[in-house]
Amino acid sequence: MPSVDYALLNRQLEALLDTRDWLTNSAQTSAFLMQALSDLNWVGFYLQRERDVLHLGPFQGKPACHPIPFEKGVCGAAARTQTTQRIDDVHAVADHIACDAASNSELVVPIVVDGALWGVLDIDSPRTARFSQEDQAGIEALVATFIARTALERPAFD
Ligand code: SME
Repeated sequence: MPSVDYALLNRQLEALLDTRDWLTNSAQTSAFLMQALSDLNWVGFYLQRERDVLHLGPFQGKPACHPIPFEKGVCGAAARTQTTQRIDDVHAVADHIACDAASNSELVVPIVVDGALWGVLDIDSPRTARFSQEDQAGIEALVATFIARTALERPAFD
């Protein structure tokens, strides 16, 4: 497969995100990624709106699992560790949460504000090992643009 021009995608995403609003920007970002990247079946945001629990946010794809506690699944691992999870074969992950049976590989990028986990971007593919290290770096750069362009507040609980 030809490699993706992530620098171009980054400029396009910057142009698309012309508000600071998190809801608009996360909806636009998930729709943009679904259009721009090949072989995806689900792209979306999960937000930490309750302590150590991810709530489903704007997404593209089939209706998905909600809520996801931090201790479960690939999204939970990204939230707990605040590190990107790049999974070649989700069926090899014992506690993978199968929302859509079509998913075979997955990339989950944490979104951290002032050291606190705001949420994660979850991307699923029907193709095993869909995401290379280059894809991971490119998508992390797109998430950095989303963070820079959006007024994200540290999650507030209680
Ligand atoms: N597969 C994810 C759950 C979210 S959905 O795929 C949309 C996980 O194991 O965290």
